[in-house]
Formats: sequence, C-alpha cells, structure tokens
Amino acid sequence: MCGIVGYTGGNQAAPILLYGLSRLEYRGYDSAGLCISSDAGLTTVKARGKLANLQELTSQGTALPGVCGIGHTRWATQGDPNDVNAHPHESASGKFAVVHNGIIENFRKLKAFLTAQGVKFASDTDSETIAHLIDFYYKGNLLEAVREATQVLEGSYALGIVSADDPGTIIGVRMCSPLIAAIADGEAFIASDVTAVLKYTRDVYYLDDGEIAVLSPNSVKFYDAYGEPVVKPMAHIDWDADAAQKGGYAHFMLKEIYEQPKVCADTVLARIKGGAVDLTDADIGADYFKDVEKIVILACGTAYHSGIAAKYWLERYARIPTEAILASEFRYAHPIVDDKTLAIVISQSGETADTYAALGEAKRLGARTLAVVNVRGSTITRSSDRTLYINAGPEIAVASTKAYTAQLAALALLTLTAADQRGTLERESNAAILAELQRMPETMQKTLDATAETMQYLATLYFNQSSIFYIGRNLDYAASLEASLKLKEISYIHAETYAAGELKHGTISLIEEGTLVIAVAAHMALFDKLESNIAEVKARGGDVLCITQERCRADPEQVANRVVAIPDVHEMLTPLLSAIPLQLFAYYVALAKGCDIDQPRNLAKTVTVE
Ligand code: M6R
Repeated sequence: MCGIVGYTGGNQAAPILLYGLSRLEYRGYDSAGLCISSDAGLTTVKARGKLANLQELTSQGTALPGVCGIGHTRWATQGDPNDVNAHPHESASGKFAVVHNGIIENFRKLKAFLTAQGVKFASDTDSETIAHLIDFYYKGNLLEAVREATQVLEGSYALGIVSADDPGTIIGVRMCSPLIAAIADGEAFIASDVTAVLKYTRDVYYLDDGEIAVLSPNSVKFYDAYGEPVVKPMAHIDWDADAAQKGGYAHFMLKEIYEQPKVCADTVLARIKGGAVDLTDADIGADYFKDVEKIVILACGTAYHSGIAAKYWLERYARIPTEAILASEFRYAHPIVDDKTLAIVISQSGETADTYAALGEAKRLGARTLAVVNVRGSTITRSSDRTLYINAGPEIAVASTKAYTAQLAALALLTLTAADQRGTLERESNAAILAELQRMPETMQKTLDATAETMQYLATLYFNQSSIFYIGRNLDYAASLEASLKLKEISYIHAETYAAGELKHGTISLIEEGTLVIAVAAHMALFDKLESNIAEVKARGGDVLCITQERCRADPEQVANRVVAIPDVHEMLTPLLSAIPLQLFAYYVALAKGCDIDQPRNLAKTVTVE
C-alpha cells in the first residue's frame, strides 16, 4: 500500500525522502512523487512506475533544493496509476501539498462541494480533495485548517502535508492508516513505518487515530482532533537496521525463508521455562483459557492460513470450539460472539485494515481479544487486550514466509498452554510436543538443507505449468492453502488448494495429462486416505509431487511421481516444516519465470484499505 515519508531538518530533503521511499518500496506501489517546500514555494515532481524513474527525474534528489518535504509511493485505489494521479497533490492555489495513504469514502460529496466553489480538480483521486479542503479552511493557521479539513473526511487516512506559507513545517495526521513521527538531532520525520527512518533515528512516536503531529527541525508536537496538545510516549526501536537489508541474498524472500530457524528460536525458546510454556510476556496467566467457551480467529491471507492450522490444533488438543474466519467477512456475517469468546487476531503488520475492523467488531460484541502480531507498537497491538509477539523481525518481501512459520510457532505455544490449563492433553504428550517445538529451529535448518536443491530442480521442471493444484487433509490442507497462495502471488501461475477428499466432487474434471498436483501428506495418520486421492489423480494423467515425512511407511514413490521428505516430527508440528520446501518451490518457480519476486504485481505488503 501507499508509503509516506516526510523530512524537515538541516540537510537536503529530497535525497533523504528518496531513500525513505526506497525502504518503503516493499509495501507495493505503482507511482511515486516528492514535494519540496522552501522559501521559493512548493516544487512537486511525480513519476509513474518504479522509484528509479523519480530518482532519474530528480537526479537522485539533487535537482530539488530544499530542506523540508514529503514523499509518497502510491498503490492505486481511486484513479489509474499515472503521473497525474501520483502524489503529492497540490491545492489549486499551489499553497498546500498532501500525500495520503487510505481511502476517503465521502470524496465524491466533498468534490461536488468544492467544484461548486469553483475548485478545479487535476486528478481522478480521492486524495486531491484533501489538499483543496485545507485551502478552503485556511485562514493563516495551518494546524487549524488541517484540523477542520480532517473533521469532514470519512474513511481512512494517514497524511503528510506541507505549506508554502510555512516552509520547514510538516503536518502528519492519522486515522485508521499507519503513521509514525520520529526525531533526531535537529531533524524530524514522518513515515508509514519505521524502516524509512531507521538509518537516521530510532526514537519514534506512534500516532493514534485522530492525532495530528506538527514537525519542525527541532520539535514534534502532538494534538488531538480538537486541537488540544497531547503528550505521547517515545518508543525506542532496538532492532537491527541490517535486518531490513538483503544480506547477500538475491531476494528478501529467499533471505526470509532462510531466517526461519532463527526466527523460530526467537519466537519459542525464551517462552519455555522449566519444561513448560510461559507466556507471561503476553500477560497470559494460568487461568487465561479456563472460562473460554469459544475462539474466533480473525485474519487475512497468510495469517488466515496459520489461523486455520490453529483452529485444528485448538479443537483437537485444547477441545475449544474454534472458528477461523476471514477478517473481511467477519463484520458482515452476524457472528455469534460474546464475553466468553476469545478473539485471536493474527497479523504480521498489525495494520491490515480488514483485520483491524474485525478486531473492532469482536470487541464491540464483548469478546476478549488477543493479537498475534509481528510489528511492535502497530495499530492492532494497541487495540487488543493482549499481544503475543511473534518476534520475526522486519519482513520485507511481500510474500510472507518467516512471519507465517513464526505465527504457527506462537500459536502452537498458545495451544499447548490452553491444553495444559484445561487438562485436555496428557502431560507427557504435551511435554513431548513442547520438546519437539524446542528443537524446531534445528529441524527447520535440516529441512532447508535437505530440500532446497531438490525444490530448485523441481521448479525447472514445472515452471511452465499454467495451473497447479494442491491437496491435503486437515493440517496438510491448511499448509496447502498457504503453499498455493505463495505460488500464485509471486509466480502468477494459477494455483488452487482443495481438501483432498473434495477433489472428486468436481475439481478432478480439471486434471489432465501432465497437470501438476502437489499432495501434502505430512500427517501420517491420514496418509492412507491421501494415497487414494493421489491414485485418483494419477489415474487421470496427473503428475503428483508428494510432500511427506521421512518415516512414511508406505513407499511414497510407488504412490506419487516424485517425493520430497521432511524430517520426522510430531504431526501437530508438520505445517512448520512442510511450509519450507513449498516456499522454496514457489520462490524458484518465480525465479525461473523471471518474476519480480519481492514486489509482485498488484500486491501490497500492508493492506491498509478495506
Ligand atoms: O500483515 P498481515 O499479516 O495482516 O497481512 C495479511 C495479508 O495481507 C498477507 O498475509 C498477504 O496475504 C501476504 N502477501 C501473503 O504472502
């Protein structure tokens, strides 16, 4: 989604803004722009396509003198991706420029009103309305004009605003879209996330909904929606800036796949004390699950897929009725939720608009809420009763990999805690699973070592397929859903997952000579069932790649055309391992097809609009 950066200080702003935008590229975008505010007025430059176009147009920023400005990468929502619709948008008077992330839902009404006042619009965007509104309300006080303009906006917005009358000042506003402010010595910044400013400072402020930040080189002041001053706590970011660099890997996605053993250790190890799970860092005490009658898991995309695995776990091991519901569907589904319901919201970014909205609805219905999130201080963590951090570090590739397995690891800890508190799993079994989870970082490393080359080879055989099907049962079905999403989002190959038993109820008609079907059969208790489904596919000419455990007693090579084995592991934990060869397969297929792996077309890393 759109990325915002703002800088005011003693250095040339444009190169700093371009650098900040390059750190936000991972969010996904289709055009970019800058506006520099100086004594000479506002200078705006915009370019469709990659940031490189804007860098070239501005000679890496050196062609735009000035020490204060705002920058933007746009992911088109309202209006085509072109130069005119790119941000920043200037008001008709040329006095104000605005960058916006979010959607103004009532912009048509506002546009009609402004047009009736004689305002001429240059673009097709909703965002331009904001610049004209500020102009409309401006009577010499920028803060007041911004405040009044935002009072009439409906929807979501993070804004960066500069004015020709106040060179050196930037205003940031937040409503349901992420925005931080940050300070360094004689410099101040706004940004959509901390990666844009980490090179300069680690001292940041997270804006809350309705808050306004006024930045000058030596200060950041905060106000509420009524214009009253607000005192905000500063947060210090302690993660390593190098964590957001490729570190020698060709792509962030590959780096993040290989980081999984370490991330799993960071999620799990400090939370195992004296042979038991200890989630006190998330304020989950000994009675947390005792009176929970129902769990709803709310999430989108990959996070939803980890939620489906957790649904199987929580029902089987903790015997709590659990539903995994797409966050975008939850609000409109008339869900049955009350104060005995625990709503678990899963989100890597902690900013996904649909997930945030579902969290709000669960709270409104009285549910207790627990966020399973990666990004510290994000909106979802600040709105939930409790947060269990997955500690995956910055995930830059659009395709989620390490956050997925870290979510699984955190949810596994949660499941074992619930099972323990409710006495639904024998102590020995609980301890045995926990011991395997503790060894998981090494087991993941073994899986990487054992499967990477094979997956690279298999990708060369199958990258020309037009459709690939994934099948699995139970936890393998959950794992397959994630695997097919991974493949389709980065390789653009049509990929679908079916519960293996469901194939014969319709989809099998699509299987023809040479169609690749990936059968995830890591759940040994269900292998025989899956074997029959594989046979059905092969009988129709399908080519079957089977992912199973080393200990598989049946001769999988008799069953499938090709077999990839993951190390033996307790069946509960199989999704953490089967993910790895399937992520690698998606990666190498996309590589063979020459796709833009870290920034696939049309996708955004953080989806901040509903
Ligand atoms: O930040 P979140 O976990 O809330 O994001 C949810 C989805 O947008 C995200 O998982 C998406 O599906 C990924 N691109 C998948 O790789």
